[in-house]
Amino acid sequence: MARILITSALPYINGIKHLGNLAGSMLPADVFARFQRSRGNETLYICATDEHGTPAELAAAAAGQDVAAYCAEQHDLQKALAARYGLSWDWFGRSSNAPNHRLTQHFAEALEKNGLIEERTDKMVYSIDDRRFLPDRYVEGTCPHCGFEKARGDQCDNCGNLLDPVDLKDPYSVISGSRNIEVRDTRHLYLLQTKLADKIRAWVDSKSAGWPALTRGIAYKHLDEGLIDRGITRDLEWGIPVVKDGAPRPGFETKVFYVWFDAPIEYIGATVEWSEATGADWKRWWRNDEGAEDVEYVQFMGKDNVAFHTVSFPATIIGSGEPWKQVERLKAFNWLNWYGGKFSTSSKRGVFMDAALDLLPADLWRWYLSANAPEGSDTAFTWEQFQSAVNKDLADVLGNFINRIGKFNESKFEGVVPTGGEPGPLEAKLCADVAARLEDLTAQMDAIEVRKATQALRALWVLGNEYLQEAAPWTAIKTDRDRAAVVVRTALNLAALYGRVSAPFVPFAAEGICAAFGEPWPPQWPSLNVTAELSRLEPGRPVRVPDVLFPKITDDQIAEWTERFGGADEG
Ligand code: MF3
Ligand code: ZN
Repeated sequence: MARILITSALPYINGIKHLGNLAGSMLPADVFARFQRSRGNETLYICATDEHGTPAELAAAAAGQDVAAYCAEQHDLQKALAARYGLSWDWFGRSSNAPNHRLTQHFAEALEKNGLIEERTDKMVYSIDDRRFLPDRYVEGTCPHCGFEKARGDQCDNCGNLLDPVDLKDPYSVISGSRNIEVRDTRHLYLLQTKLADKIRAWVDSKSAGWPALTRGIAYKHLDEGLIDRGITRDLEWGIPVVKDGAPRPGFETKVFYVWFDAPIEYIGATVEWSEATGADWKRWWRNDEGAEDVEYVQFMGKDNVAFHTVSFPATIIGSGEPWKQVERLKAFNWLNWYGGKFSTSSKRGVFMDAALDLLPADLWRWYLSANAPEGSDTAFTWEQFQSAVNKDLADVLGNFINRIGKFNESKFEGVVPTGGEPGPLEAKLCADVAARLEDLTAQMDAIEVRKATQALRALWVLGNEYLQEAAPWTAIKTDRDRAAVVVRTALNLAALYGRVSAPFVPFAAEGICAAFGEPWPPQWPSLNVTAELSRLEPGRPVRVPDVLFPKITDDQIAEWTERFGGADEG
């Protein structure tokens, strides 16, 4: 039995996430976690809210709330919503919790002991009217690269360039709007990544053969551009305090660690939270000197997060000189766009996780977002594609097959698995076809090829309808009851197998299917001994399939939602 540690990029605390966030990290990580568990592997899937930094403070201010109260409330909202999507985290932590404070301060100390931290004096934007520094997104102004007038201090949303707040032209305070701004000196801690560059490259070299092209490309782009020393503190109140020898670090009393320094450490922090809540041992997952050497660690994230996970976080880990677990496989995703443009949290563009569930059940979204996962390139959400994935795959293929065979069994065999007859050539062919498809599906799931896995799964579902069409139990029943019994028994077994293999993608429907056939839940992934897998259900076992597994989406609904949420013609 293997041990698999899975993390998904930590969602920012600043509001309900949109479908793009779900598609590019949390959902595929969940699909993979469910698959690994059903294979019998010891699996730990960890996530948390990313609660520090200016986005959190600004969102709290916009909501008129104290930032701690805002974060607590938003965390609970995100957690409840995730449960409704079936995201099966073993723990959903908070980067503001105590374990992350301790760990973050510990890493900073370890780095300092190794000569990798330096105090430097920086020039930073200061607002005289607000009487404070304006780090990152607290300042906006004109982009020095493209002239966009609402560029944020850390990044221009128009041209994508990363910025330093002091480079903005005509800066103004996001808090007060004041332009009464000057550049002042302030002390900050720097992590000397330049000293670590060779070690980081050696580590990337040792891992990257197994990374997808997207991940590898981004990692080497950053290494080749040359690493720079990185400021890891900010002039902010909300965050993890900077300490030295257990007391506030002199000169840093009003500063905290930078959010991108503490956030990835929360992968470990959240595991400590889990261990404190359950009594489980976190070190066997994270410390190579305590057994984590045997763990396979797999990360999921959007492409904008890759540099932080292939360079910055490894700098923290490697620089500490301590035996921490590091990522083996890093699965990165491109963007899911909203038609031609971006989903946008700030301008409320697109469908958000809460609104989506008001329209349709989670399984439908999970299926669509998996079948159209932005793996090879950016992809665009459209209502028409969504309708087609739901109607053509879920309703017409999987739902139809299960319903058809269930109803036929109820009308001809009293709704119990029929006895009698011997499998013939059609069943032998079915077993061979199922084995081939199942092997493909299993390989794609292992490889975390999300789209290809959905295609393999769909191909497996199609076999059921083809078999029924050919074996025609409704004809056989008129002349040869035993023959009809074989077909129905085989098809019922196949339907039960579908429940088991569909569970990673459509867990709610799959649970219903498994329950209908008396299959255990959570399910076990089937073996390639398909003959045995298709004779699991003993004759006489009662089977009652749900009436409608997947609702069909009508053209009227699509028209209404296109109108309500905006569609193609919105820029
Ligand atoms: N909150 C970040 C984002 O949504 C991701 C943080 S991942 C972590 O882009 F590892 F740093 F936590
Ligand atoms: Zn710009």
